[in-house]
Amino acid sequence: MSQSINLRTVPVELGERSYDILIGPNLLDDLAVHMAKYLGRGRIHVVTDETVFGLYKDRLYSFEQDVSVTVLPAGEAQKSFPVLQKLLDDMFEQKLTRNDMLVAFGGGVIGDLTGFAASIYKRGCRFVQIPTTLLAQVDSSVGGKTAINVAQGKNLVGAFYQPSLVLSDTQVLRTLPDRELKAGYAEVLKYGLLGNRDFYNWLEVNGCKVLSLESDAISEAVATSCMMKAAIVAEDEQERGARALLNLGHTFGHALEAEAGYSSDLLHGEAVSAGMQMAFEFSVAEGLCSGQDAQRLEAHLVETGLIRISDTARWRGNVDALMNHMAQDKKNESGKLTLILARSIGDAFVEKDASTQSVRNYLRSLI
Ligand code: NAD
Ligand code: GLY
Repeated sequence: MSQSINLRTVPVELGERSYDILIGPNLLDDLAVHMAKYLGRGRIHVVTDETVFGLYKDRLYSFEQDVSVTVLPAGEAQKSFPVLQKLLDDMFEQKLTRNDMLVAFGGGVIGDLTGFAASIYKRGCRFVQIPTTLLAQVDSSVGGKTAINVAQGKNLVGAFYQPSLVLSDTQVLRTLPDRELKAGYAEVLKYGLLGNRDFYNWLEVNGCKVLSLESDAISEAVATSCMMKAAIVAEDEQERGARALLNLGHTFGHALEAEAGYSSDLLHGEAVSAGMQMAFEFSVAEGLCSGQDAQRLEAHLVETGLIRISDTARWRGNVDALMNHMAQDKKNESGKLTLILARSIGDAFVEKDASTQSVRNYLRSLI
């Protein structure tokens, strides 16, 4: 056994639904140890995708008890009713009880699908998140949003359902394609931009170390991101207020993603990266934020090689289409457009009545 040094623990404080996020290199080497107190004698059923299973299947057999596995193809298409049904069938076939443990072992697709299955199987069984992408480690595995996609839109059927534990092994990020790593880094940057200027300043200095997965830098980035998300979720678990801040860059970003047909041409984190830049530029255009902060963000996106507004021309030519996508955003209330805007780096706020004319003018100015 090689107990990991540099292990960090971030608690998510939600009363009786509280849990820990463990972060560090090589946690998978001691999976049975880290999960021991959550397992008892219960069975384990792992849900993963073919890519992650191919790379890390040997780590799943260190438990004393039998492990059964559902292996799905990789990709967003798995977040669907038919695949959910298949997963539930596998769970029934394994005769899982509510005290057994479902394990989501993969990126956000596996985490969202597995968490939703856990929330409805026999009215709720326990589950552990083992996120293997940077995006999943800093965002989707934390906070209990679970969902599948339906014809009407992405993530429209789901539940708030918290895991028992999140285990983030930073070492597994070494096999992640560079594009996926950068897409995840956009969500890291989001936490600095929305509410932690010191963290943003730190990322300006250390961002390239994070992206080259230097051990201390990546652990610090994941832990600080999780601490920020945990604090916001503890304050507003079901997104009635402050949790909406986590959508900085997402309303503009989702419109771009929708125009790209949610295809691999534009990853979610890439859309968020350009979307955050749009939120800052729009805030500057509205006289809310200094142009210097938008320029700082642009410079950091250039330095780290993230997707910028200038990379998204092919998806933002049709301003009416973008406005339609934004009008359908889940955050909107009473027909008014909600946007997350910024007063400065580290100080974002929820604008519940953004001027659609101003947004339209801004989007036109980009063409
Ligand atoms: P993903 O799960 O599709 O993973 C991306 C790709 O990386 C996949 O091909 C996967 O097989 C591969 N992969 C995963 N781990 C790997 C590793 N260690 N090495 C090599 N390859 C690896 O995508 P994602 O970006 O992790 O997650 C996107 C999903 O997350 C979307 O469905 C989105 O809606 C959801 N999401 C949910 C929340 C939430 O709060 N629940 C937040 C943000 C995003
Ligand atoms: N990813 C946004 C949230 O968890 O609320």
